[in-house]
Order: sequence, then C-alpha cells, then structure tokens
Amino acid sequence: MKLEPTYALITGASQGLGKALAFELAKRKTNLLLVALPGEGLPAIASQLLDFQVDVHFFETDLSLSENVEALAETINRGFAVKYLLNNAGRGGTQRFDTAELDYLQGIIQLNIAATAMLTRLLLPNLRQQKTAYVLNVSSMAAFSPIAFKTVYPASKAFVRHFSLALREELRGTGVRVSVLFPGPMKTNADATQRIEKQGFKGKIGLQSPEQVAALAVRQLLQGRANIVPGFANKISRCLMALLPGRLLVPMVSRAIRQEIKG
Ligand SMILES: NC(=O)c1ccc[n+]([C@@H]2O[C@H](COP(=O)([O-])OP(=O)(O)OC[C@H]3O[C@@H](n4cnc5c(N)ncnc54)[C@H](OP(=O)(O)O)[C@@H]3O)[C@@H](O)[C@H]2O)c1
Repeated sequence: MKLEPTYALITGASQGLGKALAFELAKRKTNLLLVALPGEGLPAIASQLLDFQVDVHFFETDLSLSENVEALAETINRGFAVKYLLNNAGRGGTQRFDTAELDYLQGIIQLNIAATAMLTRLLLPNLRQQKTAYVLNVSSMAAFSPIAFKTVYPASKAFVRHFSLALREELRGTGVRVSVLFPGPMKTNADATQRIEKQGFKGKIGLQSPEQVAALAVRQLLQGRANIVPGFANKISRCLMALLPGRLLVPMVSRAIRQEIKG
C-alpha cells in the first residue's frame, strides 16, 4: 500500500480547461502532476501553482504517440501515488472529411481515444492502491450527436463517454470512481473562440468559462457523479438531443457547423 503524498495527474494542463482544473484542485490542496506538449508554458503554470503550497511536477510530452504514453505512465508509476487521473487533453476542429489531412484525423483519434484508454489502463494499478481514487474523462456535448464537418471529433467523444461509463461499471465495488464530463462551448484558446464566434447564436448555447466548468467538475467528481453536464442550457440540450430522432437531430446540429465552414 502506497502512503501519502498522493497526486492528481492532469493531461492538457497548460491552458484552457486543464489549467482551470489544476487551479481548482490546487485550491483543495491536491498535489499535482501536469502534462502538456513541450514548449507551451507548462513550467510557468507549475510555478504559479506552487503558491497554493502544493507539490507540483510537470511532464512535457506528446501524448498522441503511444510510446510517450507508456513512458509517462512508467515514470509516474515508479515515483508517485495517483489518487486522481484527469484525462483532459483533447483535440478537435472543423474540416471537410474529404479534404482533411490524415495527420489531423490521426491526431484526434490518437489523443482523444487511444491516449485516454491507454493512460487509464496503465495507471489503474496505481489508482487501485488508494482506498478511494477518481478518474475524470473529458468528453463533450458533441458526444450526444454525430456532427457533419466534425465527424471524428464527436465520434471520439462518444468513445470517451461509452468507455468511461463501461469502466465505471466494471470497477464498481473497487475504490476507483469513474466520471465523465460533457462541457459545452468554452472560449479556451484562439481557435476555439473563433469557431464559437463563427457559429453565431447556436455556437454560444451553453457557453461557460473553463473556470466555471472546472469548479463544477471537481465538485461532482468528488461526489462520485457518473455523468457531469455543466450548466442549465447544456442539460436542456442534452435532453432535447436524447428525444429527437437522428434524422432530425443530425442535420440540425450540423447546420451551425456548416455556417462555421462557410465563415
Ligand atoms: N473548448 C471547448 O469548447 C470544448 C468543448 C467541449 C469539450 N472540450 C474538451 O475539453 C478538453 C480541453 O479542451 P480545451 O479547449 O481546454 O483545450 P486547449 O485549450 O486546446 O488545451 C488543450 C490542452 O491539451 C494539451 N495537448 C494538446 N495536444 C496534446 C498532445 N498531443 N499531448 C499532450 N498534451 C496535448 C495542450 O497542451 P499545449 O498547451 O502544450 O498545446 C493543452 O494543455 C478537450 O478534451 C476538449 O475536447 C472543449
């Protein structure tokens, strides 16, 4: 049995929702292991987080390469007791499928699907050494419907949803609790902001700041909630999406994205 101190590992912690999750956990005096791509300001974030009197380590690596996921997991399992795993790093985008570069499609699939599943698998023995441990996988409201011009992104987030809920069931009775988070639009970076703006009114339904989403996500993660849908507008959207037949829903949600492509 590994003893204290325990850590929260957050992927994609250099900006956006991952950074907000790191601050939210630091406020709760949780030690942190931060992961993001090299050269994107992770050391500066790590040093800001030290102000909260927590232990912080950072790892700069590209998680879209499976050998990096394995190397990271090995380092973590050798040196740290992990109580919280937050699989947040994710890529999206809007492109016509017929002209999309293979690198773009592969990047989404490798990061959103493969890295999430592999990292969880490799860290699970570590998490299971804690009396109670938590996994938060970041999906998206996009998981609730296929969306034209985004194709692999919503499909990857539907994977995250199904994977998380299946694993939660499989781990029932162990100390590991798995939750899945479905954020709506957040202006986390220049690209996401531009995409939200181009979609007009529809793009702003359920809009929240990453800080708002992170605060709710951490609170409900600790309560052991299975599905975390932040905000009233997103809850309503989710219900409507569940009620509408696909032949009506898919063209409807795709219309705003078509506008984004034209814009
Ligand atoms: N923004 C939205 O509107 C929205 C809506 C629903 C769901 N989400 C989901 O929420 C999560 C966070 O999104 P966000 O908007 O906060 O993203 P973001 O601002 O683009 O940040 C993504 C984070 O992931 C890291 N990252 C990207 N590629 C990586 C890779 N190959 N290896 C390691 N780290 C990598 C980035 O590191 P660097 O800074 O080093 O590049 C960054 O820290 C994602 O899973 C996303 O799909 C976002």
